[in-house]
Amino acid sequence: MSYKIPFNRPSFLGNEQVYIAKAIANGHISGDGPFTKKCQQLIQEVLGVPKVLLTPSCTHALEMAALLLDLHPGDEVIVPSFTFVSTVNAFVLRQAKPVFIDIRADTLNLDENQLEGLVTSKTKAIVVVHYAGIGCEMDTVIDVCKRFNIPVIEDNALGLFGKYKGRYLGTFGCLATQSFHETKNFTCGEGGALLINDPKYIERAEIIREKGTNRSKFFRGQVDKYSWVDIGSSYLLSDISAAFLYAQLEFIEEIQNKRKQIWDYYYIQLKDWAAENAVQLPIVPSYCEQSYHMFYIVLPVKEQRQMLIEQLKTQGILAVFHYLPLHLSQMGRRFGGKQGDCPVTEEVSEKILRLPLYNSININDQDRVIETILNFKCN
Ligand SMILES: Cc1ncc(COP(=O)(O)O)c(C=O)c1O
Repeated sequence: MSYKIPFNRPSFLGNEQVYIAKAIANGHISGDGPFTKKCQQLIQEVLGVPKVLLTPSCTHALEMAALLLDLHPGDEVIVPSFTFVSTVNAFVLRQAKPVFIDIRADTLNLDENQLEGLVTSKTKAIVVVHYAGIGCEMDTVIDVCKRFNIPVIEDNALGLFGKYKGRYLGTFGCLATQSFHETKNFTCGEGGALLINDPKYIERAEIIREKGTNRSKFFRGQVDKYSWVDIGSSYLLSDISAAFLYAQLEFIEEIQNKRKQIWDYYYIQLKDWAAENAVQLPIVPSYCEQSYHMFYIVLPVKEQRQMLIEQLKTQGILAVFHYLPLHLSQMGRRFGGKQGDCPVTEEVSEKILRLPLYNSININDQDRVIETILNFKCN
């Protein structure tokens, strides 16, 4: 079924086709071409990250992070259960055991107070996900990681340009990952990036990304031929995709302002209805600047979510739920996950509903979403 107001609609900012034509004219459409370098440079400069490498997706960037950590069978990685499968799967691919942590009921980010209790001598990484682009409690996360000498990885798929206490998300972990999937604020269809904050990982990351070879060094003239030096895979983004992405990254402020406007409008219009109906709206701590990636509501009773989805559907509006608890998935259960392990995740997962939010949604369409919701009574 096609919806008059879809959940997401990728936006085109104007220069996508021009830059793709330029990439073709450049004669360099494989990875690490001029547009890849421009995107990497831009993200490095804005975030102040030592090294950014574009990848074909956030999933691939997570896989690179897992390879860089040199995991061994039996190593444990602490990850939220309330996340996308790739956050966990990337580490499981390296034979690590996921240890699922529950989320806080307010921000829906991992509950940092439970971290210490899950750390064992086998813990080799803590992976945080900044849900909806709202920062996790990084002071506590970093404190635990420092005390136990455990690297922190940020899955920042949803949080590009968000900040925690004035510092950009993606700059806290030794490694962080971004997504440029069609649904994200900045996109090239499918795409991602690995952010390397600890320079000790840079050289090996370049090798892993180039099929286990020192080809990057060869292109820089640092070696006279390149060869197989480590394990790796093909984790480069085509320069055609990078050209598309650059056309989007040129408009960071415009896109973020537009999304803020849309997000704020939802919040203001739904605030009273939410209070009257015991519905939870996103909670953004005062010291967090969110990325304005997503607007969600958490309904008081799970059956109401499906009823509201149906009601919105009759108006041609697509609203969608989100992550299913990973500890209760078929794979999660193979690692010992069972009902009750992460109670907040289990509850929120059944009650959360995400509303249409894309750069080009107009006020009339937003009003139609809002009106339908205001007509829905939870009592
Ligand atoms: C938290 C999180 N991590 C990773 C991903 C995967 O991103 P990609 O599709 O770029 O691989 C997603 C997808 O939305 C996500 O929500």
